[in-house]
Amino acid sequence: MSRRTAAAPPARPTTPWPWLDRGGRFSPFRLSVLIGLCCPALVLVWLLATGQMGAEPWKEATRDAGAHAIHVLLLSLFVTPLRWIADWPKALTFRRMVGLAALAYVLLHLTIYSGDLAWNLLAVVSEIATRVYLTLGFGVLVGLSVLGWTSTDGSQRRLGPKWKKIHRWVYVLAALAVLHAFLQSKSRADDAVLAAGFYLWLMGWRLLSGRWRADPWALLALSVAVFAATVGLEFVWYATASRLPAARIAEANLGFDAGIRPAQWVLLAGLSVAMIPWLRRLARRSPRPA
Ligand code: HEM
Repeated sequence: MSRRTAAAPPARPTTPWPWLDRGGRFSPFRLSVLIGLCCPALVLVWLLATGQMGAEPWKEATRDAGAHAIHVLLLSLFVTPLRWIADWPKALTFRRMVGLAALAYVLLHLTIYSGDLAWNLLAVVSEIATRVYLTLGFGVLVGLSVLGWTSTDGSQRRLGPKWKKIHRWVYVLAALAVLHAFLQSKSRADDAVLAAGFYLWLMGWRLLSGRWRADPWALLALSVAVFAATVGLEFVWYATASRLPAARIAEANLGFDAGIRPAQWVLLAGLSVAMIPWLRRLARRSPRPA
């Protein structure tokens, strides 16, 4: 009997274009995700170019691009939970695209910030070197660039098990990005609180053990716990970093008189995600049309 040699697994074909799937076929779904990711940037650039961004257009655009950057970064971290909660393995096929989009939004954020400083690159460098929150943001940009650079199939093969370890740093980078958002916020930290709440949910989900990760009751409990933690974090931020009445701001989370507060958005999003396993069960039970 001839000895069988262990064959190396065939290299997976790489996709040069984001709208092609791993087999190189056109994927309308991937194209839709790509368009969805590009839309906020296109709208932002269009509003800026047509002078519709208010009295301080470059500042406003810098803020908007930063907000998009952190949202897309958090979205990239949500792909794995979505895969398990919705039992949707296909979700993982667009994780890289979302991660690279986050990097693109950070670069757009930096580009617009340079525009705000009249394209004076020396001023940009000196601001980044002297303001802690900008140095922090720049550190996150460097970290995300390394992850983007090593996100290819080739790097994944070359780095082997080290690849996962390197890419886990994304959680630290996201935490630093949230801190950057807090440190730049003046009297209102709504966007930073929202990002922090979503980040806490993502971290909480990772702490759940395997069998609870797609359990609707565990997800409900996680949402409520993260709501409380977000309210607490918001309270601590306003109590220590501003002169605003922190207790009254925290109380506003118990009703809707002040509109929907960031922690309430986090709760609503968490509850919606917790519904997914129930909706899936319902869909499976309902009779299919003949
Ligand atoms: C080179 C690096 C960076 C620079 C120079 C930079 C610069 C800035 C500036 C100047 C602001 C304040 C805008 C204002 O209020 O006038 C800001 C806000 C912000 N940045 Fe960055 N940033 C950098 C990296 C990042 C990264 C890596 C992220 C996230 C992934 C990010 C997310 C944000 C967010 C969420 C805000 C707050 C937006 C809001 O208030 O709604 N930034 N950044």
